[in-house]
Amino acid sequence: MALVSSKEMLIKAYQGGYAVGAFNVNNMELIQGIVTACKEEKAPLILQVSNGAKKYAGPVYLRKLVEAAIEESGLDICLHLDHGSSYEDCVSAIKDGFTSVMIDASHHSFNENILITSEVVKYAKDHGVTVEAELGRLAGIEDDINVSLADSSFTDPSQVEEFVAKTGVDSLAIAIGTSHGAFKFKGEPKLRFDILEDIQRRLPNFPIVLHGASSVLPKYVDIITEHGGAISGAKGVPEEMLRQAARMAVCKINIDSDLRLAFTAAIRQSIYQNPSHFDPRQYLIKGREIITEVVRHKILHVLGCGGKI
Ligand code: G3H
Ligand code: 13P
Ligand code: ZN
Repeated sequence: MALVSSKEMLIKAYQGGYAVGAFNVNNMELIQGIVTACKEEKAPLILQVSNGAKKYAGPVYLRKLVEAAIEESGLDICLHLDHGSSYEDCVSAIKDGFTSVMIDASHHSFNENILITSEVVKYAKDHGVTVEAELGRLAGIEDDINVSLADSSFTDPSQVEEFVAKTGVDSLAIAIGTSHGAFKFKGEPKLRFDILEDIQRRLPNFPIVLHGASSVLPKYVDIITEHGGAISGAKGVPEEMLRQAARMAVCKINIDSDLRLAFTAAIRQSIYQNPSHFDPRQYLIKGREIITEVVRHKILHVLGCGGKI
């Protein structure tokens, strides 16, 4: 049981035709809820922290919470920096004890992306840390990321071999139609599996990462709506599409919005149904339980990574 890099996990996932869940965390209840599900289902686990999460909780708090989770559960866990925005950002995470980093230089030109990513890879390799980079740009809005549909672009498969050869990255996030947040599609959901297939052909045995991969489960949207929430139009990636991607070269699937929705649903419902409650433990426990439920669902019905440790 240790903090581990994602290298072995992703290689095994590729060979086994499944994906590892990379869950965004920023507090104790999320971490505990996720870890409970992974322990019970014997699933490999990546916990990831965005810059927004670092600002909220502090990197040291988060690392110590993850270390506590490892000690309590006996699981190996990869602690990953999600959307590192610069070389300095990634170095700082590695110094804070992260075992995997993403350098998101996808908004730079192709050559600059190669340059920045290569510098991160060089530093990370010396410290036994794995690196994920991104080619193409996802649309969507999160705390620190705001990419309009007009500024988003699919990954160009003809660039991937050169990018991977020149940078030495361990995995590559690609844009095939997913987007960050809970409002992913206005019309019918559509992913460019032809692009994924082309990339898989050009990069044999190379782990691909899917960001913006929440499904926005109607069950949780309905609970939120029935208890005073207002998120009409929320729509995610259909689960069968994610299962198909996980059987292909996609080895890491990023999930944040589905955790946010489930956590909010449970807490809204608990507060609404129990007007006399004012002890945060009374509703946070509901949040923690629903996180275990949603992560178990992902492991068994989307990722296919149950029983893989
Ligand atoms: O891809 C971004 C993650 O969902 C993190 O979002 O920056 O709001 O923490 P955040
Ligand atoms: P979702 O917003 O679809 O959960 O995506 C999260 C993500 O990609 C984190 O990097
Ligand atoms: Zn992302």
